[in-house]
Amino acid sequence: MAETTAPTVLPRGFRGAQEGWPELHRIPRPPYRVPLAGDVIGSSKDTPVQDSMRLARRLGPIFRRNAFGKEFVLVAGADLAADLADEARFAKHVGLGVANLRQLAGDGLFTAYNHEPNWQLAHDVLAPGFSREAMAGYHTMMLAVAERLTGHWDRAAGAGRAVDVPGDMTKLTLETIARTGFGHDFGSFERSRPHPFVTAMIGTLDYAQRLNAVPAPLAPLLLRRAGRRNAADIGRLHRIVDEVVRIRRADGGGEGDLLDRMLDTAHPDSGERLSPENVRRQVITFLIAGHETTSGALSFALHFLSLNPGVADRARAEVDRVWGGSAAPGYEQVAKLRYVRRVLDESLRLWPTAPAYAREARADTVLAGEHPMRRGAWTMVLTPMLHRDPAVWGPDPERFDPDRFDAPAVRSRPPHTYKPFGTGARACIGRQFALHEATLVLGLLLRRYELRPDPGYRLRVTERLTLMPEGLRLRPERRPAPAPAPAGPSAD
Ligand code: HEM
Repeated sequence: MAETTAPTVLPRGFRGAQEGWPELHRIPRPPYRVPLAGDVIGSSKDTPVQDSMRLARRLGPIFRRNAFGKEFVLVAGADLAADLADEARFAKHVGLGVANLRQLAGDGLFTAYNHEPNWQLAHDVLAPGFSREAMAGYHTMMLAVAERLTGHWDRAAGAGRAVDVPGDMTKLTLETIARTGFGHDFGSFERSRPHPFVTAMIGTLDYAQRLNAVPAPLAPLLLRRAGRRNAADIGRLHRIVDEVVRIRRADGGGEGDLLDRMLDTAHPDSGERLSPENVRRQVITFLIAGHETTSGALSFALHFLSLNPGVADRARAEVDRVWGGSAAPGYEQVAKLRYVRRVLDESLRLWPTAPAYAREARADTVLAGEHPMRRGAWTMVLTPMLHRDPAVWGPDPERFDPDRFDAPAVRSRPPHTYKPFGTGARACIGRQFALHEATLVLGLLLRRYELRPDPGYRLRVTERLTLMPEGLRLRPERRPAPAPAPAGPSAD
């Protein structure tokens, strides 16, 4: 059943599972369905992902939910997710939360429909901005931003104060993408409150999530005030990115970063360039996609490190061994932090900060040989449950164990079982950027501080399409500087 069809245009708007899944009745659903409202019992508009995780535990590897007549299918099992990774039969589906972001980002890279020509154009123009060479060029700027963070944490450590981890990681990752990609400084570390870009972004992400929790025809009425705030947030985001572009144009160009590519680079084959409207959409897309999820990934990793001193000690020993006393680790020295990277991988396993991705059938097909789907029918992979499937991750998938990502363990697992960055042609373009940045920052923080948890803290996960550990605070304590590295090749 591997017929490939050209990605012809499918109808837009919400496509209910009733239309596309002829044997929907075989897919389990929650037992108590409220007329009109749907599966609302025990669910909250604020925690759709965590509610779905609870349902997956009860209902199994594939199940459906209904919210105000919108019926959709979720996949939590590894076999099903692996089948959905078959690019010949399935493609990205722009639906639910992602579709709600089109008001903001239109046919920007993340929110574009597969058939929109600007996806391929922007992908081809921007992909070289993530080559190894480009990444090596960002490294020094990443280090400079990380120093702003350690300056801030040194002051907290000196005063015995706790730090606001998600707040600080958001400052760090926003400044990093803004400076490396756009030559722009938002001055986040000089501000006592989040930059208006962050506040407006959180507003729009939150609104996009809330739109799913009300009947579509009633949204303008039920979310009237929130809709007005959302329009204001979008206006603010547009004004901020227009200013970033205006400054660049006034400067007559930058140093070949992402913004230069967006403004000046023609497609290598067609010679086509991004239109000004599309540039605005890409700048918003990259400023948001380029920092929000990395901030969450770093925050969760720091949470797990603070709770697992044995893991933190091992990671720290690796940093001391590989980096020695070098004040500024080089680009190549970051990839050598294999264990620190495993800490990050394992954090993204338990809490993948972009917690779902949707796939649609390119042609009539049968999912995993069991569930017929018509062309255009779609489902959502619930990544945190894919990452907890006991058939892949063993009987205790909740246990935090970075050794799940050592090379033999990774080789022993079937493909397509770990998907924090999505899958296929529409997978994350910024994956290497995020992993380099986050490994570098974890290395720097581990080397410099002991991370003491707040004894009263219990993990609460906030959802705004992305995931974040709410209210996480840690108490950093300065460590003595490590001795200079011994000469000769490192063991790792
Ligand atoms: C830990 C950090 C990150 C995570 C967990 C993450 C996750 C994801 C996921 C799951 C997707 C696919 C979404 C879908 O299929 O609907 C995606 C796409 C995307 N990501 Fe990331 N991402 C991260 C960091 C970044 C960074 C640093 C950038 C940019 C610098 C970025 C830019 C994008 C873009 C532009 C897309 C859309 C790609 C396309 O459709 O062609 N992401 N990301």
